[in-house]
Amino acid sequence: MRKAIIAGNWKMNKTPDEAKALVEALKPLVAGASCDVVVCVPAVDIAAAKAAVKGSKIKVGAQNVHFAASGAYTGELSADMIKAAGAEYVIIGHSERRQYFGETDTTVNQRTVAAVKAGLKAIVCVGESRAEREAGYTDALVEYQTLIALTGLDKNDLKNIVIAYEPVWAIGTGLVATDEQANETIGVIRAAVARKYGKAAAGKLRIQYGGSMKPNNVKGLMAQPEIDGGLIGGASLKAEDFAAIVNYDK
Ligand code: PGA
Repeated sequence: MRKAIIAGNWKMNKTPDEAKALVEALKPLVAGASCDVVVCVPAVDIAAAKAAVKGSKIKVGAQNVHFAASGAYTGELSADMIKAAGAEYVIIGHSERRQYFGETDTTVNQRTVAAVKAGLKAIVCVGESRAEREAGYTDALVEYQTLIALTGLDKNDLKNIVIAYEPVWAIGTGLVATDEQANETIGVIRAAVARKYGKAAAGKLRIQYGGSMKPNNVKGLMAQPEIDGGLIGGASLKAEDFAAIVNYDK
């Protein structure tokens, strides 16, 4: 009953011209997709990507957003700015932002609220490090990260939220969570959301898996009942690979 959503996270790759070329290569390959398809591009590529997706079902997203509406925040972009540039989605709280740019659960929450209130759809990332998994903290951590991120939002806002469960140890490493590990942890996240927002709302919330999702492992992951899509890094930079993931059900 939940429509799958496959989103590419291009990270810091592609100029506007390169973004246009990649989207144009992707368009015919995903024309028959049955899931939602999103490309989250560098902010300077949003306008080019938006122009290039015209006539297709591909949506454009950004990779970060500031929580203030405007002001003295050198280098930052507001939700209204990225929306006006053409983004419908925005990734928030990616582990690389938490690790390298001081993102905290509190700022993830502030950015999520700002994005949703501005009419963007937020792809909120949560996930444990290897040490946290080995210490047995995975469930508590992802529950906490998810519920903090959603603080201040009500259950009607959840339709504009996608959670991306991305175990940090699986990102860009080629190590993928097993289908069962990913399914189980996503189930833990959904149960936490159900306790706070009710079963019906949690049942509609889309929760992706991310971390070395590739054409050769997407089918097994997507066959799991809790997994509603993927957030794809490396494999989203090649049209054929990303399309093969998008077309996992073909
Ligand atoms: P990966 O990245 O697919 O390259 O592991 C996923 C992500 O960081 O969102």
